[in-house]
Amino acid sequence: MKKNKIIIFDTTLRDGEQSAGASMSIEDKVEIATKLNEMKVDIIEAGFPFASKGDFQAVKKVSEISNHSIICGLARAQDKDIDTAGEALAQAERKRIHTFISTSDLHMKYKLRMSKKEVLESIKKSIARASKYTSDIEWSPEDASRTNLDFLYKSIEVAISSGATTINIPDTVGYAIPKEFASLIKKIKNNVSNIDKAVISVHCHNDLGLAVSNSLSAIIEGARQVECTVNGIGERAGNAALEEIVMCLKTRADKLPFYTDINTKKITVISHLVSTITGFPVQPNKAIVGKNAFAHESGIHQDGMLKNANTYEIITPESIGLSSSELVLGKHSGRHAFKVKLNELGYDFDERNINKLFKQFKNLADKKKQVFEEDLYAMVESEKNFQKKMPINLIDLSLKCGQGKNAEAKLKLEIFGEKKLINEVGNGPIDAIFNALKALIPNKANLIIYQVNAITKGTDAQAEVNVRLEEKSISVQGQGSDIDTMVASAKAYINAMNKLILKRKRANDSKSVFQTSNEKLNKHVI
Ligand code: KIV
Ligand code: ZN
Repeated sequence: MKKNKIIIFDTTLRDGEQSAGASMSIEDKVEIATKLNEMKVDIIEAGFPFASKGDFQAVKKVSEISNHSIICGLARAQDKDIDTAGEALAQAERKRIHTFISTSDLHMKYKLRMSKKEVLESIKKSIARASKYTSDIEWSPEDASRTNLDFLYKSIEVAISSGATTINIPDTVGYAIPKEFASLIKKIKNNVSNIDKAVISVHCHNDLGLAVSNSLSAIIEGARQVECTVNGIGERAGNAALEEIVMCLKTRADKLPFYTDINTKKITVISHLVSTITGFPVQPNKAIVGKNAFAHESGIHQDGMLKNANTYEIITPESIGLSSSELVLGKHSGRHAFKVKLNELGYDFDERNINKLFKQFKNLADKKKQVFEEDLYAMVESEKNFQKKMPINLIDLSLKCGQGKNAEAKLKLEIFGEKKLINEVGNGPIDAIFNALKALIPNKANLIIYQVNAITKGTDAQAEVNVRLEEKSISVQGQGSDIDTMVASAKAYINAMNKLILKRKRANDSKSVFQTSNEKLNKHVI
């Protein structure tokens, strides 16, 4: 491997899916993995195969499609986890097993209830087990940044002498600060006798907003793999954002003389895809992929931009796959222009689907004078969602409402293949729609978030609605878009309900899986 190449290890499908409210079906994971593979991510952590049947299937399916990326499965330090990961990865052209165990005093005492000696023994055993399936083994000391240094050195040494080829240093709780984390990497390099036999990786969480800074500081001190997620999604405050790491290395190569193999032009498409699949909107001021990342509001800035874009732009929109022209298509645009635009946005549909989408585009262009790129993304993603044949689908919605009277919603749905019709009233149109949906799909979920955003400017803009539902310990995020805000609201609620059904099933699957495994190590559930 070249000295200055930074290996990009994407964990959107594993740590990213651990975000509260995020859930991905097997098909969703395959779709995201296909794009990650196309954008030349080096390693895709496709899931935690032992966690549930769905996770197992997802890792298996992703293993079958990749022709560039190494596919990785996560496993705790126990035989059943590792065997299941090995089995799920069997078809992968290139595979990696990532096994981990906590090494901090806090985690060993309260979570694992294991002594240091037992942990060291477990490291040896787990890596030996993983080497039955592959020679590409990654090992992580969970909570490394809060681990006693001497024990950390010892554990890493044992892991490498047992066969680990990548040592990943996680800042599991996002506690480290850049100088300290950089120094940790330096100390590991200076104190672990066999460290030259492994690649050092880092995995930073964003609890203090430092995940990207910590990762970059670690690179300066010798880390050569970074674990990250698209849009920075992940457990709690998330992980280091892939797009920020990659664009930072590209833009500041003068001070950071490293490179990645990532095709940065695919960043925008994958960011949209992950946002629609998870239902997590991207905050407007998010670095690189936020809606405002290339918007210049003040007159002085706009004037500067017109004279020379370098005045206020350090990255070109084109370099992340955004087109520079804002207005794209209108009512009179033809099928060819439409198809070219979809290709520019990273979509590659067959003729049948192009025809279908073109009809929808014409309908949209009839209602909306100017059709922007964001409109096309929303339209295409919404159609893709519809085609996924989810358990619940919206067929029709009509409403009666006005000032001083109850609103009435008439809804037609297809639920597990059966068509159902209902009329319900409510305090307003949204209340009536949600009451109708609740009556047709009985559930105990509470509505936690209801948020409406205009996708583009103007009063004729499409609405994008995000809802979060919580039922017992399960939370799900749904998204829907439409030119009509009420229809978008119904779509978002239905999208969340479909995810709830998937998550309920997964929770049942994983319960039965975890019941069969070793008592002591079972406490080590991430
Ligand atoms: O944050 C963490 O420690 C993890 C490990 C499994 C690497 O996600
Ligand atoms: Zn993590």
